[in-house]
Amino acid sequence: MTTTFDAIVLGGGAAGLFCAAQAGQRGKRVLVLEKAEKVGKKILISGGGRCNFTNLGAGSANYLSANPHFAKSALARYTPRDFLALVEAHGIAWHEKTLGQLFCDGSAQQVVDMLMTECAKGDVTILTSREVSEVEHREGAFIVAASGTLYGAHSLVIATGGPSIPKMGATGYAYDLARQFGLKVVEPRPALVPLTLGGEDVLFRDLSGVSAEVDASANKAIFHEAALFTHRGLSGPAILQVSSYWRHGDPVTIDFLPGRPRDWLLEAKRCAPRTQFRTLLREALPQRLADTLAERLGLDGDLGNLPDKALRAAQERLHRWTFLPNGTEGFAKAEVTAGGISTAELSSQTMETKKSPGLYAIGEAVDVTGWLGGYNFQWAWASAHACAQAL
Ligand code: FDA
Repeated sequence: MTTTFDAIVLGGGAAGLFCAAQAGQRGKRVLVLEKAEKVGKKILISGGGRCNFTNLGAGSANYLSANPHFAKSALARYTPRDFLALVEAHGIAWHEKTLGQLFCDGSAQQVVDMLMTECAKGDVTILTSREVSEVEHREGAFIVAASGTLYGAHSLVIATGGPSIPKMGATGYAYDLARQFGLKVVEPRPALVPLTLGGEDVLFRDLSGVSAEVDASANKAIFHEAALFTHRGLSGPAILQVSSYWRHGDPVTIDFLPGRPRDWLLEAKRCAPRTQFRTLLREALPQRLADTLAERLGLDGDLGNLPDKALRAAQERLHRWTFLPNGTEGFAKAEVTAGGISTAELSSQTMETKKSPGLYAIGEAVDVTGWLGGYNFQWAWASAHACAQAL
C-alpha cells in the first residue's frame, strides 16, 4: 500500500472534487481517485460549455427520488447562494439566463479551476487515470485498488456518478460497489433524455428542427418550456424535463397553445369567420408545425365554414395532444441518471451509509435527480458539503 488517508473520494467530478476540497480544508488528508485523464469532464461540457452551476430556486420539489424528503436537509444546509458566494469569491463572472439558472459568462473551465484551487487549499491529493476496480473493508479501513496500486483510508466516498454518456467514461461502478456492501439500488434509468416516436407519431419526425413553447406533461409533472421535434422524436427542455417522469407505456401530453382563453377557436370564428384555420394556427406556431397539426386534425378552409363541434374537438386536441413515445435515446444521450443508491441506505444529514460506517455516497450516484436547469450541480455541491462536514 502507498499512503494512508483519512478519506478517499472515488471520482473527480463535481461532487467528488467539492467534497474533497471541503474535507481537506477541515484538516482531513484526502485522496481523489479519478478514472479519466482529467477531472471534471462533465462540468466542462455542461450548460453548452458555460456550466449552469446552480439554480437560485433549488429546493427538494425540484428533485425526483423514492424519498422526496431526503434531499431537504443537505439542500437547506448548502444553498445556491452559498455556492454563488464561492463563485464570486473566485471572481467568476456569471449571469442568470432564465428561471433562476446561473451560468458562467466565460467558460465552464472556470468552475473546474475554482474546484482545483479549493482542493489545493485543502492539500487534497488528486490522482487521475486511476480506475478504481476493487474495494475491500478490512480492520476498520477501506483498501482501494486503482490501476494496480492500493490506497487505504478510514472513510470512503462514492462519487463516481451514474452511467449517462458512457462515451465520456461514465460508469455504473457506484452501483457495483453499493451492491458489494449490501446497499439497495433503485433501478437506474436515463433521465433528461430525448424521447423517441414510432407508430403513427412517426410522421412528426418530418418536423425535425422545429420547436415551440408548449406545456408538456407526463405522469402529473408539467413543464412550460420549448419542445423540439427531432429526426428520432421529441427533445428540447420541456421534453427533457418530462422524460425524467416518463415510464415506458406512458403518454406525453402537449398543449401546443398554452394559456389561451376558453373557446378561443369559436371566438376566432365569430370575430374573423373568413380567416383560414391553417392561417390562424400559423399565427401562433411555426408554419411547418401549424400545417402538420391542421392536416392531422383534418381541418381546412375558412373558420366560418367549420362546424362548432369540429372546432371544439380541434381545440381540445391542440391543448391535449397525446404522443405515445416508444422509448428514450438511452444513457448515450441522457443528461443524468435517475435512480441509483437508495436514499433509505443513507443518512440525509451526512450521506453516510447506515450499514457500513465510514462509507458515504454523494452526487449523481445517489437516487436524487434534479430537473434541468442547474439543479443537478446544486445537489452535487449540497450532498458533497453534507458529507465533507462528517468525514
Ligand atoms: P460526475 O459524473 O460528474 O463525476 C463522476 C466521476 O467519477 C467522473 O469524473 C468519472 O470519470 C469518475 N469515475 C467513474 N467511475 C470511476 C471509477 N471506477 N474509478 C474512478 N473514477 C471513476 N447539471 C447541471 O446542474 N447543470 C448543467 O448545466 C448540466 N449540464 C449537463 C450537460 C451534459 C451534456 C451532461 C451529460 C450533464 C449535465 N449536467 C448538468 C448534469 C451534471 O453534469 C451531473 O449531474 C454532475 O456532473 C454529477 O456530478 P457527480 O460528481 O455526481 O458525477
